[in-house]
Amino acid sequence: MTDYVLNTWYPIAWSREIGRKIEPRRIVEENVVLFRKEDGAVVAMEDACPHRLLPLSLGKLRGDTIECGYHGMTFDCSGKCVRIPGQEMIPPSAVVKTYPTHENMGLVWIWMGDPTLARTEDVFDLAQYHDPDWSVAEGDALYIKANYLSLADNLCDPAHVSFVHTSTLGNAASEDIPVHHEEQPGKMLTWRWIIDAPPIPLFAKFGNFKGNVDRWHYYHYHAPSIAIIDFGSADTGTGAPEGRRDNCMQIYACHFMTPVDAETSIDHWLHVKNFQATDEINKALSDQFRVAFAEDKMILEAIQMNEKTFADRKTIKIAIDAAPRRMRKMVEKMAGEALA
Ligand code: FES
Ligand SMILES: [Fe+2]
Repeated sequence: MTDYVLNTWYPIAWSREIGRKIEPRRIVEENVVLFRKEDGAVVAMEDACPHRLLPLSLGKLRGDTIECGYHGMTFDCSGKCVRIPGQEMIPPSAVVKTYPTHENMGLVWIWMGDPTLARTEDVFDLAQYHDPDWSVAEGDALYIKANYLSLADNLCDPAHVSFVHTSTLGNAASEDIPVHHEEQPGKMLTWRWIIDAPPIPLFAKFGNFKGNVDRWHYYHYHAPSIAIIDFGSADTGTGAPEGRRDNCMQIYACHFMTPVDAETSIDHWLHVKNFQATDEINKALSDQFRVAFAEDKMILEAIQMNEKTFADRKTIKIAIDAAPRRMRKMVEKMAGEALA
């Protein structure tokens, strides 16, 4: 089993996916079930009946309890068994593990570690998500057959954009621009500016730029599984690099990663923009992101396959690897601390 950071809030599902139906999910190599109580709160439990280990996801939701699909043992939201058909006595060990959950930014978050350390104030938030001057569009849950840290590498790596996303998020103007990075407690910031260059295809399509632009890319990675990509453009020479961004187009592309197992991850993505968008524009933007993120998926899955084929091969490091390497060390340390 991979060492995961457990004392953290992970995104596990879109809020819109969880209702009055038992939903199975897998995260950090554990199977859980999710459902919404009658009062609307989300419950998460281990997906195994303590009797014969039948997955509880094969059972039935009865009120706020789950009835196992094999012999009808019934568990309440705290995991306690409240009924064993055919007997009065309920052994104290008849308990299912439960996990703290919280909802924010359209997502259900789960705490897989020590429940006494779970503080809902620590669930990730982006202020602009709630700001009426900004607009939000939810994307998809993109399944990627790759370890979530490979996806995290990608999200600490603005350099790939010039080569992987040429039809949407990148263009050749940035190929040789160096990437900067800065490690902060629990975070890795990676960025670069491209000055006086043509807008990227996405902004040429949706922005209203007169000619060349100054554009930025700030990748805010929050260990272990969140990346907020702040990217935008302003007409060149209007002072955007010095902080004057009154007439800019800015998007936060948010990636909330679920580590499913060593070879699978889910990227829950959404975008938050500094302009109001019609449903049509949101759909068009999301379609562009879908193209771009499918390109990342293709690259990451191909690498995952080759990492198996060339299991003993030592890869080389180049300048743009500085941030991903430090990110991996940070996550390793966090995972180790919980075990110590
Ligand atoms: S396996 Fe669940 S009640 Fe028997
Ligand atoms: Fe990408």
